[in-house]
Amino acid sequence: MFVTREIPEAALARLAAGLPDAQIEVHRGPDRIAPDELARSAHGASALICTLADRIDAALLAAIAPPLRVVATFAVGYENIDLDAARRLGVRVANTPGVLTDATAEIAVALALAGARRVAEGDRFVREGRFAGWGPLAHRGRALYGQTVGIVGAGRIGFRVAATLRRGFECEILVHTRDSQGREAAAQRGEAERSVGSREVWEHELGARFVPLDELLERSDIVSLHCPLTRETHHLIDARALARMKRSAVLVNTARGAIIDEAALVTALRSGAIAAAGLDVYEDEPRLAPGLAELENAVLLPHIGSATHAARDAMGMLCAEAVIAELSGRAAPNRLV
Ligand code: DGY
Repeated sequence: MFVTREIPEAALARLAAGLPDAQIEVHRGPDRIAPDELARSAHGASALICTLADRIDAALLAAIAPPLRVVATFAVGYENIDLDAARRLGVRVANTPGVLTDATAEIAVALALAGARRVAEGDRFVREGRFAGWGPLAHRGRALYGQTVGIVGAGRIGFRVAATLRRGFECEILVHTRDSQGREAAAQRGEAERSVGSREVWEHELGARFVPLDELLERSDIVSLHCPLTRETHHLIDARALARMKRSAVLVNTARGAIIDEAALVTALRSGAIAAAGLDVYEDEPRLAPGLAELENAVLLPHIGSATHAARDAMGMLCAEAVIAELSGRAAPNRLV
């Protein structure tokens, strides 16, 4: 078995206990494994635990399956894995939905607040020794309380963000999901997207209104992205979409970077077409679009949505349980194919 990145020790211990005869090799060190090293190291393995940074494409799968039987990704998103190729080659794939919902939703709310109230900018201001005292006109931002929040993607994380902002900040919730309009194939939806509950739950529990994307963009003070990255959602937020947003709006992305055209976002932030952005993910991660890092109105985090001890431990355990189940002839609870 090969693990492409260090994961919590408890998960490795669970694997060792559940599969006592397995040899577990882990790529250790601060950096992600290079693709050619991954292909070499995974050669001969029956199971692979990977991360969202590893490209598990048809060529790699064909080179290592068989004997490869299962890929468990340490993530809820799985756009880096060619599920069709895995299906053809008889390789099972599992992900880690559910256990990172609250952690990721918290970061989305933090980014919304940080963007609206200029938190990171204020922090830099104080650290740089520029704080000369309180001023009536200084550092004014926008309230989050009572604002209209547009959630793009009606899965678990989007629901949790909406619930937090509805119950805690009395926000009005608009939601857009391509699924409800029948435009996205069911096969392209993640488990999290399928199981969060029906449109009625959003409407009944949160008073949410399902609206077309353009209406959501035009009416929302905060737009928070929670859809999976698919062919349909790649650059969903492009120059045209950004131009529809309010000049006072804050755009939050804790999903996947390429849902936003990052170059267009830099232009929009620079020109004041929107007020701010809070990003945890990037189009060409870990690289940033030119100019993004220089913008005071961009709050930038290093993809830490799921980075609580509890969530990461639980993600590790789900990967371990998936591998143990599939190698023992049972279906992993979070099997995708
Ligand atoms: C995921 O799980 O897809 C996140 O991006 C990382 O936790």
